[in-house]
Amino acid sequence: MTNKTPKTIRIFDTTLRDGEQTPGVSLTADDKMEIARQLSKLGVDTIEAGFPSSSDGEKKVVRDIAKAGLTSEICALSRATRGDIDAALDCDVGLIHVFIPTSPVQMKYAVNLKPEQVLASTVDSISYVKKHGVRCEFSPMDATRSEMPFLKKVCKAAQEAGMDSLNVPDTVGIMIPKTTAKLIEELRTVVTVPISTHCHDDFGLAVANSLAAVEAGAAQVHVAVNGLGERAGNASLEEVVMALHMIYKYKTGVNTRLLYSTSRLVASLTGITVQANKAIVGENAFAHESGIHTRGVTEKPLTFEPINPELVGRTRKLVAGKLAGTRGIKAELEEIGIHPTEEQLKEIVQRVKDLGDKGKMVTDADLIALTSAVMGEVIGEEKIIDLCDMAVVTGIKVIPTASVRLILDGKEYVAAETGVGPVDAVLKAIQKLTSNLENIRLREYRLEAITGGSNAVAEVVIKVEDEKGNLVSARAAREDIVMASVEAMINGINKLLIKNHKQGNKK
Ligand code: KIV
Ligand code: ZN
Repeated sequence: MTNKTPKTIRIFDTTLRDGEQTPGVSLTADDKMEIARQLSKLGVDTIEAGFPSSSDGEKKVVRDIAKAGLTSEICALSRATRGDIDAALDCDVGLIHVFIPTSPVQMKYAVNLKPEQVLASTVDSISYVKKHGVRCEFSPMDATRSEMPFLKKVCKAAQEAGMDSLNVPDTVGIMIPKTTAKLIEELRTVVTVPISTHCHDDFGLAVANSLAAVEAGAAQVHVAVNGLGERAGNASLEEVVMALHMIYKYKTGVNTRLLYSTSRLVASLTGITVQANKAIVGENAFAHESGIHTRGVTEKPLTFEPINPELVGRTRKLVAGKLAGTRGIKAELEEIGIHPTEEQLKEIVQRVKDLGDKGKMVTDADLIALTSAVMGEVIGEEKIIDLCDMAVVTGIKVIPTASVRLILDGKEYVAAETGVGPVDAVLKAIQKLTSNLENIRLREYRLEAITGGSNAVAEVVIKVEDEKGNLVSARAAREDIVMASVEAMINGINKLLIKNHKQGNKK
């Protein structure tokens, strides 16, 4: 470690931009806002909220996040063109992240620009951002495959044009710690602005390379929750932050106790499951099975736990069966930054006890899923639609059939439907009934078993859309997948109807 290294490292989070580019991930505006609020609570310095020029919807979300009064600085991504920068400026963000490729292969085949054109666009774009009084971070994309003399020339020109920080992207993840450190040291001889790094994980080295960059003097790292991002992803926020705090003894603004709940929220909204043996946030990261390990950690946690689980919002094992009390669960949740209302807490405790009565041990992941489902529910008087009862029939040589009785805007309705399975049948029956009020369509349905076993808690996340294109997501967690699906659906429909009523669109 060099003594030039700053003691506090800035955390630039790109979950909502590079992370959203993860194949298969598409977040609604509400999802993005929910994640942004959580990232701000978590304490990241910068949130890269999106790429405004990519669509009108994206531009609106970035603007809404910038207006939400969050503590983190909000950043928008922009290519090195005035049109893109104008779209970013329209969002009123504090920071614009301008990028342009500088490697021979990307200059020729990705953007078809000559090196002189890249140099000219770099200078023009940065000057244009600065002329508007906005901070500018500049990325020479694919820096790690760029020719050093040209890379240095571009970085120098970028500094002269006014860039506030230089981000060095390892766009295709081909670096190792030694080459990363050398590159950062080399670039520090040509620029004086703070240097950042953006490492991709194609060889599983993104975290190691980010740490090597910090050792060589980088003041900031780009990271994403759960390591999300293009292809194999970006450096994982939770791993980089914990290594910086615990191995390097450096500081960041991150409240590590919120790492696990943040990871669960992002996994649930993106649908990208975290592998069980992933460091810090994986299900097994604080689980001990063999006798010698369990005896060791019970006697002295340090024997097999390099990190105290509570430090990252986890528990070694949560004993939250039927003997769990309200105070214990409340304390458990508050420890990780979740504050349910009295009414919500009562419901959470009831669900934990119900599971305990069925002999199930509730893990920390189960508790967070149950809690976020209960807290995301539309409750009490606000409900426009509510379930009275339902029945499903399924089996061999039986067409899966569901009947549902609902209260819709104060009136009772009954419908029955068949489907390819019980969940399909019951969701169709609900949609048939709600078409009386609004034409609502199920856009996406995802089911996840949080812990193993046939009595696992299942988390259902759905997205529903109305005729006007309003899209909301909703979730529910139960050990019965049909019930979880129905609750998520009713919750989603309530959210859409309430949204419409508030906009004065009642039919
Ligand atoms: O990986 C990359 O190079 C990027 C740039 C936009 C910085 O994501
Ligand atoms: Zn990237």
